[in-house]
Amino acid sequence: MLEKIWRKKPTSIDEEPFSVRVDKVRKNSVPIHVAIIMDGNGRWAKLRNLPRVAGHHEGMKTVRKVTRFANQLGIGVLTLYAFSTENWKRPRFEVDFLMKLPGEFLTTYLPELIKENVRVEMIGDFSALPLHTRNAIKNAMEATAYNDGLILNFAMNYGSRLELVNMVKEISELAKDDKIDLTDIDECLIESHLMTSHLPEPDLLIRTSGEVRLSNFMLWQLAYSEFVFTDVYWPDFDEEYFLEAIEEFQMRSRRFGSVTDEVNIVRS
Ligand code: IPE
Ligand code: IPE
Ligand code: MG
Repeated sequence: MLEKIWRKKPTSIDEEPFSVRVDKVRKNSVPIHVAIIMDGNGRWAKLRNLPRVAGHHEGMKTVRKVTRFANQLGIGVLTLYAFSTENWKRPRFEVDFLMKLPGEFLTTYLPELIKENVRVEMIGDFSALPLHTRNAIKNAMEATAYNDGLILNFAMNYGSRLELVNMVKEISELAKDDKIDLTDIDECLIESHLMTSHLPEPDLLIRTSGEVRLSNFMLWQLAYSEFVFTDVYWPDFDEEYFLEAIEEFQMRSRRFGSVTDEVNIVRS
């Protein structure tokens, strides 16, 4: 077990070098939106006899790596699931630590994000976050608002069920106030009341750490996304694992219920 997790993927003698593989990524079919459930920080730390929070801290470096690489590949949106509406159930010390991470990450890397034309955004229930967390995120969003490169979208205090409940409430209000007819309720209207209304739906979902579940993440938006699960813990995830997921994505045939064999990136 320990070996399996610590060992890097064996590279065979005839495997192409990383840079060649990057060059071979078909630029016209990179996923527009990649969403990642960053999981396994606690187990990464436990393997090393470190406190769980050491795993969260180490995971920040992975966030930096995948952001830079996503930008390099020309991915449009990178959504990172950083804290779920259920994660408040964790010990107070761990929650406090997780709430400080956006501030620490952004203080360290904001100048780089600005330089690299990355726009920081957030989905989730902002109001329940501590003031210092809100300020750090707000500050980064403002500082990068005019960047038009990669959107780095943190899902922070995000829960898909909460999002769906809010959507139902908002649409019900509109119907109650006679602002819409029941016949106006369609997929477009529902999407316009989700926290992701301004974003395309994810083409690719990656979850690290070997868990094969969604944990209340984007239940509506992932309806036709391609899923890639990897055993590697988030702090060990890197450009090479990311590239592997992209290569896997590019081999998939997305049909959206139709019969064509063509690889379609955007839902038709
Ligand atoms: C993911 O790592 C980070 C968050 C959920 C905030 P975990 O903390 O869930 O790590 P494991 O799953 O316990 O190893
Ligand atoms: C999902 O991971 C949430 C985030 C990565 C932020 P969890 O570790 O909280 O999920 P479960 O509890 O294993 O389903
Ligand atoms: Mg976990």
